[in-house]
Amino acid sequence: MRLLSLSIVFLFGLTTVSAQEDGAALFNNVCVQCHGTKGEGKEEVKSPSIANLPIWYVTTQLSNFHDGKRGSDTAIDPHGAMMAAIAKALKPEQIKAVAAHVEKLPLVVPAKLAIEGADVTLGQELFYERCMECHRYNASGEMAFGSPPLVGRQGWYLVAQLTKFKNLHRGAAKGDEKGAKMVQMASLFIADEQTIKNVVGYILTLNPTPASAPLFK
Ligand code: HEC
Ligand code: HEC
Repeated sequence: MRLLSLSIVFLFGLTTVSAQEDGAALFNNVCVQCHGTKGEGKEEVKSPSIANLPIWYVTTQLSNFHDGKRGSDTAIDPHGAMMAAIAKALKPEQIKAVAAHVEKLPLVVPAKLAIEGADVTLGQELFYERCMECHRYNASGEMAFGSPPLVGRQGWYLVAQLTKFKNLHRGAAKGDEKGAKMVQMASLFIADEQTIKNVVGYILTLNPTPASAPLFK
């Protein structure tokens, strides 16, 4: 209920900026409510840090949410659905403008860089064998593969997304080719919850120290 009322408030906010194509203003008027002023995210509403995500990835995801390829089912993916409600109100020009703004925000290193019960050594092995090829050795992502940077995202968010790919709650929609790649990876190489914890535990260790962020620009 709280999530629903939040979305209604922000959708109201959206209507007031519907004619606006200034990315910074759009970000401040709409996105900060859930993603924070620095784009650092808010665990209470399960919104991830988005600061410094590359423009091509933000554009793809906002378009996926907009077109019903991500977050289309409130029952199985309530948090994705909340984001989809916002994205559906955005015009293509607004998506482009806000994505350009998000990319310029300095990377925010998550406050918590560990996952309870994770075997980071096993996580590293899996990452080297199965993830690095697309997400790169430092998890900085690779535009050519459409694979986003994983550093900067919170542990709880990474766990949630891997669980969604594994359960076909993300990446299974028709036409979501990039998402389908991750569904395939999760079904082949992510055996269980413990495997997810291990690999996310390792990914978190790849974050730069806050003082040296942003690295990936
Ligand atoms: C009502 C709260 C809310 C608002 C407002 C909101 N978001 Fe989100 N956003 C979320 C949640 C929750 C998620 C996580 C969805 C999931 O679990 O798949 C998310 C996910 C995202 C993602 C995907 C990140 C990734 O790593 O894949 C992007 C990009 C994003 N939001 C951008 C924006 C932008 C830009 C705005 C402003 C136009 C915005 N959001 C406004 C709640 C919100
Ligand atoms: C074949 C290339 C490929 C491989 C290998 C791969 N990924 Fe991905 N990954 C992607 C792509 C492409 C996306 C973006 C999906 C989308 O557009 O929704 C992605 C997205 C993700 C996300 C969501 C990030 C976010 O911000 O929402 C996580 C988490 C992730 N991958 C983790 C992993 C892990 C862990 C492994 C190893 C077990 C792995 N990936 C292996 C291509 C790959």
